[in-house]
Amino acid sequence: MTSIKAVIQDRYEQAAQRARAVGGGCCASTCRPPYAAEDLAALPAGAVAASMGCGNPAFIAELRPGETVLDLGSGGAIDVLLAAKCVGPGGKVFGLDMTGEMLTLARENQRTAGVVNAEFLEGDIEAIPLPDSAVDVVISNCVINLSPDKDQVFREIFRVLRPGGRLAVSDVLARGPLPEEIRASPDAWAACVAGAIEESAYRAGLERAGFTEIVVLPGRPEDASDCGPTVSAYIWAAKPRSC
Ligand SMILES: C[S@@+](CC[C@H](N)C(=O)[O-])C[C@H]1O[C@@H](n2cnc3c(N)ncnc32)[C@H](O)[C@@H]1O
Repeated sequence: MTSIKAVIQDRYEQAAQRARAVGGGCCASTCRPPYAAEDLAALPAGAVAASMGCGNPAFIAELRPGETVLDLGSGGAIDVLLAAKCVGPGGKVFGLDMTGEMLTLARENQRTAGVVNAEFLEGDIEAIPLPDSAVDVVISNCVINLSPDKDQVFREIFRVLRPGGRLAVSDVLARGPLPEEIRASPDAWAACVAGAIEESAYRAGLERAGFTEIVVLPGRPEDASDCGPTVSAYIWAAKPRSC
């Protein structure tokens, strides 16, 4: 599994370099980032070009001024910069990524955008470098599928959320059991396919970590007519207040 993570990191180093040179691309080649045109127009072109997500977590996150937010696998920073605007000067957004080139790109985009209420952290979403109960909201865009140990990711999210906090992610789900040759392919992992799990497994993992009020919604409308092995989805869950 460690080798899968090394391949993922290598692929995203290359993706960050390409994004800086010629513009990015999504996990899924047909992906069109579902962001409002006026939101995209207000962002640095480099952040938009580097977008590699499969949705827009802000659709379901309902971020409020003053909140503290953590974006898991923040890539070129698109969702961090959008969230920073939503939470305003009294709030704060952390972006966490394990890939050095992505962090460099994200910090460049932050500087270009003139955003001061955001901070990028280097680390693994399976060992989040923040204390317990540090954030109000965890967002993520097409990243949790890449983790070989999703139960550990869900436990870490639960730990860093304050009681009453929420998780709002865009991710890909498997439509059914994936063939072993796909599961064993590091390239298919890095392409956000092999690590996808079915909705029932995603829900069960969140429940094991302690989450409640789990809601799974369809992602990109164009996925409905696609018959690939995965489908994008929005996943929302709450950390109970009394736990
Ligand atoms: C598909 S890209 C998505 C980037 C960003 N969320 C977006 O929407 O543009 C996946 C990102 O997750 C990061 N990543 C993958 N696995 C990770 C892990 N275990 N810990 C931290 N970051 C990870 C990669 O370095 C990459 O930047």
